[in-house]
Amino acid sequence: PVQSQDRNLTQDVLDLLDTKSPLQSSEDFPSIPQKDIKGALDRLASRSMVEYVAKDTEEAVLSEEAQTILANGSHEFRVWSAVKDAGKILIKDLGNVVGTEAANVGQGNAFKNKWIKKDGDSFIPIKDDVKDTTRDQLREVSETKSLSDAKALKELKKRKLVVLTKVITYTVTKGPKYAKEIPVEVTDLTADMLAGDKWETTNFKPYNFNALGASQDAGALHPLMKVRQEFRTIFFNQGFVEMPTGHFVDSGFWNFDALFVPQQHPARDMQDTFFISDPPKADKPRADPETEAQLDAMEDSSKRLFASSQNTEVKPRDYEKYWKDVQAVHQDGAFSSIGYRYPWSADECLRLVLRTHTTAVSTWVLHRLAENPRPARYFSIDRVFRNETVDATHLAEFHQVEGVIADFGLTLGGLMKFLEDFFAKMGLHDLRFKPAYNPYTEPSMEIFGFHKGLKRWLEIGNSGMFRPEMLEPMGLPKDLRVYGFGLSLERPTMMKYGVDNIRELLGHKSDLKWIREQPAVRLEKE
Ligand code: PHE
Repeated sequence: PVQSQDRNLTQDVLDLLDTKSPLQSSEDFPSIPQKDIKGALDRLASRSMVEYVAKDTEEAVLSEEAQTILANGSHEFRVWSAVKDAGKILIKDLGNVVGTEAANVGQGNAFKNKWIKKDGDSFIPIKDDVKDTTRDQLREVSETKSLSDAKALKELKKRKLVVLTKVITYTVTKGPKYAKEIPVEVTDLTADMLAGDKWETTNFKPYNFNALGASQDAGALHPLMKVRQEFRTIFFNQGFVEMPTGHFVDSGFWNFDALFVPQQHPARDMQDTFFISDPPKADKPRADPETEAQLDAMEDSSKRLFASSQNTEVKPRDYEKYWKDVQAVHQDGAFSSIGYRYPWSADECLRLVLRTHTTAVSTWVLHRLAENPRPARYFSIDRVFRNETVDATHLAEFHQVEGVIADFGLTLGGLMKFLEDFFAKMGLHDLRFKPAYNPYTEPSMEIFGFHKGLKRWLEIGNSGMFRPEMLEPMGLPKDLRVYGFGLSLERPTMMKYGVDNIRELLGHKSDLKWIREQPAVRLEKE
């Protein structure tokens, strides 16, 4: 039905143009929505049958209250005419006569206009005849969709009697191929036409390049995965290799102890960490073939990227020594550190956890780097788990973006500069750094960025230089410095897609249709 109606409209435009040119869409088709007009005009314009120019105009439309004023007169007019008809009305009775609203709004204005006055406890008329200007103005608005007196129009708008809306109207003239009807159009080119010369003279239907495609009920990437891909590109462009983050369960050793997180640290509490009960216990750290194969693949790309600063001397890892050194650095102090000095428990270290940060993966990657210490850059973007109360901005499961850089002679200033460049690629400038605390980094800095769209400072990440208490037990040389940083993937995704409740993004409340229809984003675009 829509199509046939549109077809009539196109024909109506052609008919009218035959006798009148130019047409004004708002005057000649007053009851047809401008977007339908545009559809018809585009159809004709693509065939050069008409030409049109669009113009932005403002239309004034009466509110509901204004409609009743137009029908019955303004409140002040109704007050005056009731007083005039009765000759005298008790002030307290006015509401009963004209209605409370008209009485409340109208008596003040009728007074100000000097149409009525007080006489004891009553109103009496002053004028025999008055002009209901408001109603006259509203009549003009209803007939012409505007008002010649601009100041009065503003006043009506302030009184919420009219609403101004923007409309696009069109001025239409005949085009070079104007005809009274759309000629018959052919959609297919046939072998016959090509064999003769018909292809030269046939009237082909033009392509409509403005038509939207039919919606495809296909799979789609989740917005988080789209933003993840943006981050991956930023990392790859700066020579980072991706860490293998495939397993979510790890031992306390890799998630905490190797990172110099003391066993009494609140993060290791049941309140913050999900512990695994089956199997009850992890193996002691060892070379697991599957993990080693993944690390080998990662290191192959890393070595290719850092070919010029290659160290070829390989010193195989000694897991037994590493275990003892981690214990020593916690319990008694080692590597020039006085340690925490508490009785370190192997059982605590072998408890299995859902990893609470992807830094658990950076730990094995750095331990592997100690086989062959050299400059390297690693990143990962994957899930982490925390035993948190779910609310609008927290989930028990989220994604972390993590970057790790190892090199000789790195400084804190270098980390700040790196972070400034990194976040600039996401459109975040003028970073601020706030001293913070992590057991595994010293110094540590929280990173804040000013978001121009939201006009406020946001905490966008955490960072620091890894401590010698973490790096030296791994076997990394003293002069190889490593810094790292982490942020959530959810926060930039929510900012980019204008989501303010994280549960709309993940979990049973998320709307699959919304997820399917979200476009890709570019992080550096504001
Ligand atoms: N692991 C930290 C976090 O969970 C982020 C971080 C990574 C901090 C690396 C410093 C170095 O927030």
